[in-house]
Amino acid sequence: MTAADLTEVHRLETALFPVDAWPLQMFRDELAHADTRAYYVAEDGDGRIIGYAGLMCVLPIADVQTIAVVPEREGAGVGSRLLTLLIEEARRRGAADVLLEVRRDNPRAQRLYQWFGFRQIHVRPRYYRDGVDALIMQLPLHEWQGPPARTGADGADPHGPLTEKDPS
Ligand SMILES: CC(C)(COP(=O)(O)OP(=O)(O)OC[C@H]1O[C@@H](n2cnc3c(N)ncnc32)[C@H](O)[C@@H]1OP(=O)(O)O)[C@@H](O)C(=O)NCCC(=O)NCCS
Repeated sequence: MTAADLTEVHRLETALFPVDAWPLQMFRDELAHADTRAYYVAEDGDGRIIGYAGLMCVLPIADVQTIAVVPEREGAGVGSRLLTLLIEEARRRGAADVLLEVRRDNPRAQRLYQWFGFRQIHVRPRYYRDGVDALIMQLPLHEWQGPPARTGADGADPHGPLTEKDPS
């Protein structure tokens, strides 16, 4: 993710997180801290942003700050690929664990995280502005052996072309 992506990322953020969207300035601040942050966008074959994700890593912990995929592309593996980038970056930076928080009423995100090996370790009651609990989930990186396999019957990637644009 670069500064040039922020107008579109923020437009998506407001649509995807109606209750607690980050202000644009928060994304700017995150990008300004490359030493402890790593942000990515996923683009389709035409260069349109279809997802984004960000990690904070202050050793020994890495935190998934945000992850989102546009509704038209949900369920097609984009979130998995973004999450894989974050986890691999956390490992590259030497983190011991990846933590994240997820709304109790967000089963798709929870399924994704469980599928990747995250386990619930804590609940923060009424954490979100609208009173919904946050589930805190943890992935110990010594258990990480790469993303779970998700390939078509012929072994090919079933999700078509996708470019993950690195921040640098
Ligand atoms: C959560 C979110 C990022 C997931 O992105 P996505 O691109 O849909 O994710 P993927 O397609 O890679 O993976 C999710 C799927 O993996 C699936 N999965 C779980 N176990 C699986 C397995 N063993 N084999 C195959 N798929 C599996 C999940 O069930 C889920 O699919 P489903 O909802 O159709 O059941 C996306 O839904 C989103 O942006 N939601 C709105 C914003 C949001 O809630 N962000 C998370 C904040 S914590």
